[in-house]
Amino acid sequence: MATIKAAILGFGTVGQGIYHILNEKREELRDKLGLELEVAKILVRDTTKERVPGTAHLLTDSIDDCLSVKGIQVVFEAIVNEEPAYGYLKKAVENKCHVITANKVMFAKWGLELQELARQNGVFVGYEATTAGGVPVIKTMKNILLVNNVSRIQGVLNGTTNYILTKMRAEGWSFEEALKEAQLLGYAEADPYNDVSGQDAFKKLMILSSLAFGDQPNWADVEVVGIDSISAEEVAQSIKNGLRYRHVAEVEKHQDGTLYAKVAPMLVDKEHPLYPIDDVFNAVTMETNYIGTLTLVGPGAGMYPTASVMVEDYAEIIGKRAGFVVTI
Ligand code: NAP
Ligand code: HSE
Repeated sequence: MATIKAAILGFGTVGQGIYHILNEKREELRDKLGLELEVAKILVRDTTKERVPGTAHLLTDSIDDCLSVKGIQVVFEAIVNEEPAYGYLKKAVENKCHVITANKVMFAKWGLELQELARQNGVFVGYEATTAGGVPVIKTMKNILLVNNVSRIQGVLNGTTNYILTKMRAEGWSFEEALKEAQLLGYAEADPYNDVSGQDAFKKLMILSSLAFGDQPNWADVEVVGIDSISAEEVAQSIKNGLRYRHVAEVEKHQDGTLYAKVAPMLVDKEHPLYPIDDVFNAVTMETNYIGTLTLVGPGAGMYPTASVMVEDYAEIIGKRAGFVVTI
């Protein structure tokens, strides 16, 4: 049986999740795809740090080391920030590797270019994990866009902020306590300012905009307000009023073709569809011409939800070789 060789870039919450799932599901993946998968290299910054037992010999801090593995075909990317991630993935694609990323900061800016480069090189880019964690919003959108037009997308796109708002309201925790717990649970970004400032939700919204509309609004024109603007007193008042704070991201296409987007906290009452979306859950609502309104809800962050959709991307991409239908 042939073996696919893969590298994992980043071995924190998401990278380790990928490794664990690939191990746990090794036999099932092999039987379904007819291919063995071997993780041949793992790229990190600090190769001396103690991580998953039995993986020390795979660690490297060099992308060239990863790409020089004989027969390397797949690169999973779960590092942080635009660079060096984009440079690494460009190299991987030029090396004829399929790439599967969770990095929304990189992908919001470079996603369209990376996909074009992949097309030119005959490989695929999986990016389900960039947006809404374990909620398969990218796959779903790709599957409906052939005949449906999306006119508006609205949702809760950040698990950490929804978790913090939920714990402040339902448990009376302080903002700091809730953020600390979100970090311990692996929900928050390496720099949690990206979550609480709304920048993380903004990047995800731009990825959805690229997919739904083939374009993004001018970033400088988008109002982005974080949950750091909400005080404990305002949360207490919302409880008295029977309302809940949600951190809502929305983008819509106006009749003249221009795109309008905004990310900001919103107070919703119990009739609003976002009212029950608590904890780390995300929700994405798409308004379309034929289907009407479609909403997906599920865990928006965390090791296993995120890593599992990356392994699904892998199976979908590699499955094409084995005769499965691939939409990527
Ligand atoms: P993390 O726990 O902080 O892990 C990041 C990993 O990337 C670490 O192993 C780190 O290496 C490595 N790394 C960071 N900068 C690097 C660089 N310049 N060169 C080489 N390696 C570098 O982060 P995470 O939560 O797994 O998130 C990883 C990515 O997935 C991010 O882009 C994030 O936005 C995205 N994401 C996360 C979640 C989630 O729930 N956590 C969900 C969806 C998407 P060292 O360990 O040596 O420092
Ligand atoms: N920090 C992000 C969140 C991870 O909390 O939603 C998932 O993208």
